[in-house]
Amino acid sequence: MSTNKRIVLSSDHAAIDLRQAIAAYVEAQGWEPVDIGPMTSESTHYPEHGAAAARLVASGDCRFGIILCGTGQGIMMAANKINGVRCGVCSDVFSAQMIRQHNDANMLSLGARVIDEKLALEIVAAFLTSEFEGGRHATRVDMIGALEA
Ligand code: RB5
Repeated sequence: MSTNKRIVLSSDHAAIDLRQAIAAYVEAQGWEPVDIGPMTSESTHYPEHGAAAARLVASGDCRFGIILCGTGQGIMMAANKINGVRCGVCSDVFSAQMIRQHNDANMLSLGARVIDEKLALEIVAAFLTSEFEGGRHATRVDMIGALEA
């Protein structure tokens, strides 16, 4: 298991409150949140924020990333353009477990207009406590990486 406890968080304007609630939650769980904003609800552009968070994960500066927009979809699409990032949108706990166990996801995307805070925190907990299983799944994750070449 990695000793890097840093989790980058970012969002667009649609998810400021939920992002800050998640930052507080992960800190309470012993992680080090790196909240790169934005800090106001002024309308902004999710690709910039998704890419900024993804670069911190891809570089190894942060172990995981949690990103949010209205649906979680647009910011996820942007993050997955950065080589080395595997980001999934989750609206249920099972998927959050699976993207760690089978896909070795290093980023989680959430939709602040899709799920409430209680479910979001349950999804975050599942993501952070599930481990990659390796084996046949590693072969498939390596195949994802090969698509980046
Ligand atoms: C912003 O209105 C909205 O489009 C954005 O938060 C997100 O849902 C895009 O995928």
